[in-house]
Amino acid sequence: MDHDLGPDPADGCVRRLVPLDPQNAVDLGAAFAAISPWADYPYPASALAAYFAKAEPAAPRYQIMAGDSIAGVAGLRGDWLRGPYLQFLGVLPHHQGHGLGAAVLAWFERTARDTGQRNLWVAASDFNAAAIRFYERNGFAECARLDGLVADGRTEILLRKRLI
Ligand SMILES: CC(C)(COP(=O)(O)OP(=O)(O)OC[C@H]1O[C@@H](n2cnc3c(N)ncnc32)[C@H](O)[C@@H]1OP(=O)(O)O)[C@@H](O)C(=O)NCCC(=O)NCCS
Repeated sequence: MDHDLGPDPADGCVRRLVPLDPQNAVDLGAAFAAISPWADYPYPASALAAYFAKAEPAAPRYQIMAGDSIAGVAGLRGDWLRGPYLQFLGVLPHHQGHGLGAAVLAWFERTARDTGQRNLWVAASDFNAAAIRFYERNGFAECARLDGLVADGRTEILLRKRLI
């Protein structure tokens, strides 16, 4: 099912979430493996492609569409901890800084509120200052540091937004 993210306020371009077509998994895996934070681990393109291609009804993956272009990927995990977890959020470099990430978070919050959820959850690597600032500006607050969650010597920051 598609989800409307509202038009781009700058140019009216239609923005949507569309179920991720597994045929795009390899290209998207390569695109995200080449940029931070995945390039810093490093996190292989094949592992990202496998995640994008996998069908999990409780954890839908979406292509973020800006007009006819694939601008990024959002991956959710349904009822995670009294609310959903945004497992993956990536906007491709050319599309960053135009409000798409914020539009995805607004949709994420709207759908959670509609079903009476208490919390929204996201995580970011501790070195990913831009993402942490982005989440904080959108109302999330750090609630845990998870050492070694993804890789030895790395720390992930778990952030929560309370809805109630
Ligand atoms: C972090 C990320 C998801 C944000 O997505 P985005 O679409 O670039 O986010 P937005 O455009 O909504 O906001 C980014 C910044 O652009 C600015 N901005 C928003 N709308 C804008 C617009 N129309 N024009 C210019 N700037 C704008 C905001 O002030 C914001 O600043 P902030 O990050 O300091 O809060 C994206 O940059 C990304 O994918 N980064 C790489 C992967 C990553 O770190 N993922 C998240 C953690 S794993």
